[in-house]
Amino acid sequence: MVEIAASIMIADFCHLAGELKDLEEAGADWIHWDVMDGNFVPNLTFGAWIINSAREASGLPFDVHLMVTDPELIISQLTLREGDLVVEHVEAVTDPRADLLTIREKGWRGGLAISPATPIQGALDEAWMSLLDVVVVMGVQPGFAGQTFIEETLEKVRSVRRQLNSRGKDTLVEVDGGVNVTNAPKLIDRGANILVAGKSIFKAGVPYEQAIASLRGSASR
Ligand code: DX5
Ligand code: ZN
Repeated sequence: MVEIAASIMIADFCHLAGELKDLEEAGADWIHWDVMDGNFVPNLTFGAWIINSAREASGLPFDVHLMVTDPELIISQLTLREGDLVVEHVEAVTDPRADLLTIREKGWRGGLAISPATPIQGALDEAWMSLLDVVVVMGVQPGFAGQTFIEETLEKVRSVRRQLNSRGKDTLVEVDGGVNVTNAPKLIDRGANILVAGKSIFKAGVPYEQAIASLRGSASR
């Protein structure tokens, strides 16, 4: 079954603990943390300090999406729980092996995110394929929540899943950006396991529980 990761960057940060609790009660599967450094992307969010503090306030697994030029620095500052996900961008590093190994040594799971203009081959390199627990296909240009889904992403998700299958890997495929009730079933059909949702949860105009159930329901049709 598809898992829903709530993109916390557009939550109400004046009431972060309450938002985390509400999302857990509403049935979210993950809390997705968009770390932006104002350099890799033209936006600035939060760093390890806030994520580490929030770690105590949520029973859900964390999915940390590093949109930063120096992922190694943030990885060294994070204190997560076993099984949490940490993802860096393939465009940010020439060789992700050291970071992916560090992530595994800490008991977390690691992966690579692919921006819309980036071909998938760089992320699926044989040299680090075995270190990937997740491949994140971006559905929008990284940097902001609430953007329109780029339709070409559908084909990209299919290609990633096919390449993983052809190499006998059951690596998770996550789609991040612009996910909604219309594209969710198509993404699942093409092999996505985790869908990140910001606008579709926080700006849906219905209770979180209903928004999450709609995404999950649309995806399982
Ligand atoms: C974009 C972020 C996404 C974004 C998702 O750079 O990585 O996680 O917040 O938000 P929506 O679902 O609104 O596109
Ligand atoms: Zn993200």
